[in-house]
Amino acid sequence: MASSLRTLIPRSARRAGGSLLFTSRWSASQNQRRQYSLQAPDAADPRLRAVDASALSITKTTSPKPITPSEELIFGRSFTDHMMSLEWTATDGWLPPRITPYQNLSLDPATCVLHYAFEAFEGMKAYKDRNGDVRLFRPDKNMARMNKSAARIALPTFDGEAVIELLKKFIKLEERFIPSQRGYSLYIRPNIIGTQRTLGVGPPGSAMLYVIASPVGPYYPTGFKAVSLEATDYAVRAWPGGVGASKLGANYAPCIVPQMQAATRGFHQNLWLFKDIDPETGKEEDFVTEVGTMNLFAAIVNKDGQKELMTAPLDGTILEGVVRDSVLTLARERLVPQGWKISERRFPMRELVEAANEGRMLEVFGSGTAATVSPVRVISYQGKLVNCGLPDNEEVGPIALQMKDWLDGIQYGDEEHPWR
Ligand SMILES: Cc1ncc(COP(=O)(O)O)c(C=O)c1O
Repeated sequence: MASSLRTLIPRSARRAGGSLLFTSRWSASQNQRRQYSLQAPDAADPRLRAVDASALSITKTTSPKPITPSEELIFGRSFTDHMMSLEWTATDGWLPPRITPYQNLSLDPATCVLHYAFEAFEGMKAYKDRNGDVRLFRPDKNMARMNKSAARIALPTFDGEAVIELLKKFIKLEERFIPSQRGYSLYIRPNIIGTQRTLGVGPPGSAMLYVIASPVGPYYPTGFKAVSLEATDYAVRAWPGGVGASKLGANYAPCIVPQMQAATRGFHQNLWLFKDIDPETGKEEDFVTEVGTMNLFAAIVNKDGQKELMTAPLDGTILEGVVRDSVLTLARERLVPQGWKISERRFPMRELVEAANEGRMLEVFGSGTAATVSPVRVISYQGKLVNCGLPDNEEVGPIALQMKDWLDGIQYGDEEHPWR
């Protein structure tokens, strides 16, 4: 059996990639978890990962697009003049990168991405600072995450630093599309797909990494607007040992129906829960994980009377958000000295309900590249509304506001910081 399976996988495509860890068992105690290293064949092969940024060829458009007035920008609807792409084959590795006019892809109907979802992506932004210089925010994090996602679905990995060099050249070429007003930016969408023409289910023998960019306005053009969430208890986004921590297109399509259902009941987005036994109490709980495109933070006064900012841990079921990491880092640096406890830990909805009922709920907010932070007013859970601590006439709590100010300051270059 093993040998017949091996013959199904073309020799050239038997390669492996960055390793990632997942747990075989999630509940019970952390100590009981066994960790496996999941490696795609050959992605660790330096020859196949190498990207030659100096071989970039640029073909400029002959019909530059008009610039959409800033106030008319709709997220992800208008794109810049060009795209950047690199092709990969299992025999030759990454081929010379190209910047070309933005154009359709031509794919055979049998291309594996269209059948088996060999696709991973990233979302990042370039910001124009007050001197007109363009800044990327922690692009190394996006490249690392994209490599992990790609390796998980047997797509090739790549030299992230070389791709950042290429991104810089691409963004420089598209600079005129980046609005200079505060709050505006260029949303950058790197995407990697399996391009082999085959209906056979196996690792793609060819792939393409391409990058497109879209100018975007502020998420809240007229100031913060707190959102309402519906906690989903009839569907699960991710599970232990699954791929919830990878940024795969296949993770997003199944989330839309619950999101639409939440919308029909008047909620902006849904909140994903994970039902599991709490090892400390032996009781089943609905653990809070994340929102459709955001990680979630809750600030409460805990039962010891200490202010605590908490978010779900990176246990393989949630996306390792770049903004999540940035909020945690800034909170540890700047809120801990003010007496805060910062926790990456599992917390159930019950804890939020109790905090709200006992007057210990301070605020709840989401974190993500699109909005940076997104304040939450209420969460609907088991037919009741959990009030997240915002006074009726306010749209954002002090911690979310502080985080937004700190992050904006770094992203737009008011504060010099290694993350620029
Ligand atoms: C499922 C999910 N969680 C969290 C995030 C936030 O991640 P980041 O902070 O890197 O934008 C995103 C955004 O892409 C997401 O899609």
